Amino acid sequence: MRYRDDIIFRMRKPVIAGNWKMFKLLQESVDAALQLKPLVANANHCDVVIAPVFTALKTVADRLEGSNIQIAAQDCAIQNDFGAHTGEVAPVMLKDAGSSHVIIGHSERRQFYGETDESVNWKTMATLAAGLTAIVCVGEKLEERDAGNAETVVKTQLEGGLSGLTANDLERIIIAYEPVWAIGTGKTATPEQAQEMHGFIRNCLNESHGNETAENVRVLYGGSVKPDNISTLMSQPDVDGALVGGASLEAESFAKIVNYK
Ligand code: 13P
Repeated sequence: MRYRDDIIFRMRKPVIAGNWKMFKLLQESVDAALQLKPLVANANHCDVVIAPVFTALKTVADRLEGSNIQIAAQDCAIQNDFGAHTGEVAPVMLKDAGSSHVIIGHSERRQFYGETDESVNWKTMATLAAGLTAIVCVGEKLEERDAGNAETVVKTQLEGGLSGLTANDLERIIIAYEPVWAIGTGKTATPEQAQEMHGFIRNCLNESHGNETAENVRVLYGGSVKPDNISTLMSQPDVDGALVGGASLEAESFAKIVNYK
């Protein structure tokens, strides 16, 4: 199947995902989701995903049932075995609450909550085992880019996070490239910078899992994506969508991003 964008034909269906982080109470989440629903109802050109906080997942999923909006959790436990794991939520439980996706290894979790490539790998395997799609985040910090190490950092994160996964597993993996220096800063990577890293990511996937797999994996860009920069980002051949933070909080601006064409 090929997906028609105005300028290019795509082999990969774009994904526009909104990461609501820790911004909305339950009622605010429901309100935003219900506002969004009619605004993106005709968006057949891409998968639309929103990621509310854990406490709102089930209610938002129920209220969006039958719509074209899918639900992501923002994190998950490293395994699905029920047991004494205080504070953890297993991917099977996230599925039970209506999620189809899990965001894994977001830079905020890596920076502030001790997420490592190894825990990303465990969480990814647990997510796939539960039948969900994993959105695995990678991205370098500013000092790493300035030192010329951006590609090495991203490659290490990819190798660690996807370790042991087969080409088959990668059918339910989405990669989100989020340069840390672009998150919440208003500083977007230029379309050329994004394309360069997305092309590099696809090369890494080609090396590790072969050309066919690499060509099918969707690679999203994240970091200050807004209604006014989404089209140029999407015009890059290896940019298959966006993981949006701040601009996903308001239904109208997120809908503009979803309807970027
Ligand atoms: P912003 O769009 O607010 O920069 O956040 C990006 C992000 O972290 C999405 O996961």
